[in-house]
Amino acid sequence: MRKRILTGERPTGSLHLGNYVGTLANRVKLQDQYETFLLVADYHMLTTRLENLVEIRDNIRSVVLDNLSVGVDPEKVTFFLQSAVPEIPQLHLYFSMLVSVPRVERIPTLKDQLRDHDLAEPTYGLLGYPILQAADILSVKGNLVPVGRDQESHVELTREIARRFNQLFGEVLPVPEAFIPEVKLLPGTDGKAKMGKSLGNAISLAEDPASLKAKVMGMYTDPSRIRPTDPGTVEGNPVFMYHDTFNGNTDEVNDLKERYRAGKVGDVEVKRKLLAALEAFLEPVRERRAKYAALPGYVDEIIAEGSKRARAEAAKTLHDVRAAMRLDYLGL
Ligand code: TRP
Repeated sequence: MRKRILTGERPTGSLHLGNYVGTLANRVKLQDQYETFLLVADYHMLTTRLENLVEIRDNIRSVVLDNLSVGVDPEKVTFFLQSAVPEIPQLHLYFSMLVSVPRVERIPTLKDQLRDHDLAEPTYGLLGYPILQAADILSVKGNLVPVGRDQESHVELTREIARRFNQLFGEVLPVPEAFIPEVKLLPGTDGKAKMGKSLGNAISLAEDPASLKAKVMGMYTDPSRIRPTDPGTVEGNPVFMYHDTFNGNTDEVNDLKERYRAGKVGDVEVKRKLLAALEAFLEPVRERRAKYAALPGYVDEIIAEGSKRARAEAAKTLHDVRAAMRLDYLGL
């Protein structure tokens, strides 16, 4: 039997180049090798957002379209909606008995969420975020979890939960592994370490040519460089980090770096060439997105079908879990 991938994202809006580098590229690469389940984590979204929920429908479609646009193959993977699989919150409840409160309080993303959303204290639901994620992963007995580095601590907790469960009740759950890209985090266009939609420094996968151009030409570079004849710094310069990631023409990139260090090229030329590389990457992405978006009801249909499939798998897992715990009284 092929090993399984389970990964996904919250339906919080359109995905960007950082998401591509962080996780989407890996799922495209691995989709032939693994049986892949891709989750739209709408419950996770509720942990930090309770207003304008009517927008979620569009965001669910948009997240699926983003995946399709970069080459995730709907014939190969199973997309599903977390809230359409009630076995997941049931598993979450069982798993929540296996984790101490201080353990989840120490998970670093909690502080990040509190800060990013300007919250004084977590709700009970937000505290349980990583346990819910463990339920996602284990609901389909996922073996591999392609995620960005920021999610590593959640996969680590999932491993602990699986081990603890197996130790208490017998070998039922796989101990999954995180699959994290080697490459560095893609910085924001403003030079901040992380690209984030809410940070206003992201290039979306659906970015149109005009706004792509504006964002690239306005990118943060070496701030100490005033004139094109000043020697510039390549290391840690976001424009060059983007070149390294998206410009396949390494001769061109090396030539630009050399001239940049020597003060023999202007920022405008470096950015124009980056713009061309990003256009070459995004043009087919936009086309694929438009193709799928034009098929009426298509995305809704793959979500509905996929959710049925995922639910059948999660029901099997829940059955195994309850039987191992001796909770299947009267077979109920
Ligand atoms: N927490 C993940 C994120 O913010 C999204 C997510 C929810 C997820 N459930 C998951 C990722 C299960 C991998 C596996 O990006």
